Order: sequence, then structure tokens, then C-alpha cells
Amino acid sequence: MVITPKNIIAIQIRLNKNMVLQYDYPLKSHNTFHFDVYAEYFSAPRNVQEITEVLTAPILKNKSCFVLGGGSNVLFQSNFKGLILKPDIQSIQVIHQTAQSVWVEVGAGVDWDSFVEWSVSKGHYGIENLSLIPGNVGASPVQNIGAYGTEIMDVITQVNGIFLDSLETFSFKNSQCEFSYRNSIFKNSLKGKTIITSVEFVLGKRGNIKTSYGGVAQEVERLGGYSLKNTRQAIINIREAKLPDPAVIGNVGSFFKNPIVENTVMNKIIQEFPDAPIYKLDEGYSKIPAGWMIEQCGWKGKTLGNAAVHKNQALVLINKTGLANGQDILALAHEIEKSVKLKFGIEISKEVNVVS
Ligand code: EPU
Repeated sequence: MVITPKNIIAIQIRLNKNMVLQYDYPLKSHNTFHFDVYAEYFSAPRNVQEITEVLTAPILKNKSCFVLGGGSNVLFQSNFKGLILKPDIQSIQVIHQTAQSVWVEVGAGVDWDSFVEWSVSKGHYGIENLSLIPGNVGASPVQNIGAYGTEIMDVITQVNGIFLDSLETFSFKNSQCEFSYRNSIFKNSLKGKTIITSVEFVLGKRGNIKTSYGGVAQEVERLGGYSLKNTRQAIINIREAKLPDPAVIGNVGSFFKNPIVENTVMNKIIQEFPDAPIYKLDEGYSKIPAGWMIEQCGWKGKTLGNAAVHKNQALVLINKTGLANGQDILALAHEIEKSVKLKFGIEISKEVNVVS
């Protein structure tokens, strides 16, 4: 028999009667770039106790650990040496409600958009604008996911998890999570130190739907008018028209963050580009869409090796041939960063989490 990657059976190590640890495990279906990389060890524990059991397994002593969600915001540079831990905690539980609001605790392994679908089907308001964002609930606070005028920090009440070193549990209130644009404590002082097990949200039983972000109001109108379901559908339609489906073309959504610059910098850009789509923030700062700057640099739709810039949204880098690896995408990103710096004098930073 010829041994090919397809007929090699993954090696499993039994940790106890309920749990196995995978060895030399393919991550292709666990990262939305679809990179053909492997984890030395892989485990998908289904509850807090199983997480503790994996983390105390003697075979994993002194191994590094990376916590993976839906794999929709990571770029693996190479095979991962150590343990990839993917929490598979699947539950949506109403923990409290009043006439106006409902408090929900959602397991880290729940697919984010399934939670949004659940919320809209129950008539709960607050996350409809975050429809169709790929990834799992456990990863959503880490980068404070946001779209169409809503950020998840607007509805999170508490984030629950475990410290990887001490195995102690924690519950952080919203104010302790240090949320800001695409950022949180989990990406800064606690980077690589925690595993989020569940997230608690407060949703409204009555609504204040936000349709002011470009194009949403028109699409809601076209679908028959202002309602929760139409808003979710409008967001889905807009995203599907503009963003590549990661199941079809490997990508991680926005590859870069939109830079926040002082208004003096912004004024210079407006002088040269009067139509620049700049958003003024408070305190003398403005946000400049990185996608716009990348397009101005001529990168939209351009290919470099196996990687490319998406034809409809220049902020999205894609695995064009399906054969790209981390180096291909990073090489393209590097060229883009150089161009933007040269043309606008602005350094753009990656939104994606680069894992080596
Ligand atoms: N633009 C261009 N060319 C492009 C892309 C954008 O000129 O190729 C312009 C648009 O015309 C618009 C402005 O830039 O005037 C902003 O574009 P868009 O509304 O598409 O949003 P974005 O700033 O590029 C952000 C989020 C997206 C989110 C959208 C909608 C970040 C890093 N990205 O993108 O989030 O869906 O707003 O709210 O903040 C993600 O994080 O993965 C993601 C997709």
C-alpha cells in the first residue's frame, strides 16, 4: 500500500476513559486560510473539567499551548509545536430576564453566527449587526469583534475562563476586559495566558436597531422595512456581496486594522484626497479605512504568488490558489504595508493573530 497523507490515520493518545489527545493533527479545516499545517497535539475539551484534565496531562508538561477558536483570525506560519486547545463548550443558557432584557451565557465553542441566529429568532436585540462574522463565541471578546456600527463590547456583561498557568477560574466584568477598537485585555497583558470558557451577554427584548452604517438602511428597506429579521438579512446580503466566503476562498476577514491617526495627519490626507472616507473620532483623532488606502495604492485584486488581495474589499487577503502558506500571505502583507507607508506615511497593523 502507498502511504499518502490521506490514508495516514491520526494518532490518538487516550488520556482517560472519556478523552483522547490527537497527535500530529491536521489544522487545515481549523483555520479559515486553509493552510496545510499540523499541530503536534490537539484537543477539543467539552467542559471546564475536561480542559483541566488536558492541561494537567503529564505528556503535555512544559508544552506551549495555543487556544484556538473558529480559526478565522489566525495565521499559522508553520506547524505548531505544542498543544492546540480548541474549547468545544456548546451551550446557550438564559440566566436571567426582566421585561426589557435577557441575560444569556454562551459556551466558548458555539459558532458565533449560530448564536446571532438564535438571538434574532427569539426576538432579542443587540447583535443582529454582527451577523455572519465567522468564528466562535469564545474568541469574540478577544478582538472585540465589530461590524456595521456595533461592537461586541456593547453587549458583553462578563467573560468567564481559566488561567492557563494556575488553572484558576476567572470572571471578568465588561469594565475589566479593557475593550477598545479590535482590542481587549486578552490580546494584551493576558495574551496567551487564558482560555475563555463562556461569555455572558445582555440582549434587549425591545429594539433599537442600528441601520445608519453605509448601505444597511437601504437594504433593510428593500427587504420590506425595519425589523430584526430584515436587519440580520440585510447584513448577511451586504457581507456576502462584498466579502469572500471563507469556506470557499481561504481568508480571515479584515487582515489589517483601520489605523487611528491624529487629526493633523488626517487633514493632510484630506488636502490630497478630498473624497477620503475618513471617520472623525473624539479627542482629535480620526479613523482611516485601511481598505481604502490599500486600494489607492493599487493593490485591490492584485495577486502575488499564491496570495491575493480580494477584488471587492482590499482589506481582505486571500489564499487565491488554495496552496498558499503563511509566508505567501505575509509576503503580500509586507508589500502592502510598505506601499501604504510610502504613499500615506501611515503604518498599518495586522488584525490577524500571527502564530509561529
Ligand atoms: N473602502 C475602499 N476600498 C476597499 C475597501 C473599503 O475604498 O477596498 C472604503 C469603503 O468604500 C468605505 C470605507 O473604506 O468608504 C470602509 O469600508 P467598509 O465599510 O467595507 O469597512 P472596513 O472599514 O473596510 C470594517 C471592519 C469589517 C466590518 C466592516 C463593516 C475593521 C478592521 N474591519 O471594515 O470587519 O465588516 O467595517 O462594519 O474594522 C473583520 O473584522 O474581519 C471585518 C470584516
